[in-house]
Amino acid sequence: MRHLFDFDALTMEEWKNLYKLFSDISERPGDYCDALRGKTMASLFYEPSTRTSFSFQSAMLRLGGGFFGFSDPNSSSVAKGESLKDTIVMCTGYADAVVMRHPREGAAMAASLYASSPIINAGDGGHLHPTQTLTDLSTLTMLRGEVANINVGLCGDLKNGRTVHSLIRALARFPGVCFYLISPRDLSIPSYLRDFMHEAGLRYYESSGLEAAIGQLDVLYMTRIQRERFTDPHEYERHKGVYVLNMSKLKNAKSDLVILHPLPRVDEIDPEVDDDPRAKYFLQAKCGMYIRMALLLEITKQGTLVPDTVPINRSGRVCKNPNCITAYEFYLPPAVKNDKYCAYCDKEI
Ligand code: NCD
Repeated sequence: MRHLFDFDALTMEEWKNLYKLFSDISERPGDYCDALRGKTMASLFYEPSTRTSFSFQSAMLRLGGGFFGFSDPNSSSVAKGESLKDTIVMCTGYADAVVMRHPREGAAMAASLYASSPIINAGDGGHLHPTQTLTDLSTLTMLRGEVANINVGLCGDLKNGRTVHSLIRALARFPGVCFYLISPRDLSIPSYLRDFMHEAGLRYYESSGLEAAIGQLDVLYMTRIQRERFTDPHEYERHKGVYVLNMSKLKNAKSDLVILHPLPRVDEIDPEVDDDPRAKYFLQAKCGMYIRMALLLEITKQGTLVPDTVPINRSGRVCKNPNCITAYEFYLPPAVKNDKYCAYCDKEI
């Protein structure tokens, strides 16, 4: 693990060690209060955040380290037109790790090209969100003892929900996971993920009805319709409120169902569900802080990184996806995966 763009940066051995560290930290947080004394984290949030930014910041403070950064790019030199490259070269010189959230897909990978300390992807547009996946996996492991042989329902905006994209790719590496992908047809998973699920031989069902699937599920992962990713506001209006989990829908659910949500919620879980013992989303948010402590401890062990020399792109656009970071930072060199996908955003070239 040099950088963390997605969960696949970790071997399963590294994941198990991270989970062990998570367990120990959550049982004995005081033992770690000086573990990162003298270390600094940069927290670069080009997009709004509550849980992710606060949990990283409190994680760093609880480890005895410090942090700097912005939660509004307009208060930094980004507002003057500074490139991502320049911000990253500079901030990785100041910090032992950079936590970065950005509205463009592939931004974390782009940043890593110029980074002299590790980049942690805290969400890149509608693409990926691996530290939420670490949160989800540690919550599930803590509650169930292991992640294996489970029916997982993913419900909501599966097209734009980056937490779901990272979670699918991660759960694919655990045995016996069967996926129930519940979304309106227009908001189903991106085609690169469907290709991935096919190639990995995963068991999955796609449908638009929550009620029909709920009785089969061991885990129900609710997500909000991602308003900020819609170019047409009418499209958002058409889909908002499409799924609402309430006590009446839970009548047919298993008694040991685990209900998760990355949060923030809008209206997709009725607050009446909060008091049901199956609702674990606030516990999940707390687990997020402990697993981020474990991640910061491990990732900062690497010390200063030496980035490779990166050629400047002078050939024009490299990817057709209008939300790809390469459509905004023109100097980025083309990078293709498996002859078919953009290596930054995963969309077909
Ligand atoms: C998620 C995100 O930012 O993608 N939030 C989070 O990090 N907990 C989910 C969301 O915004 O819907």
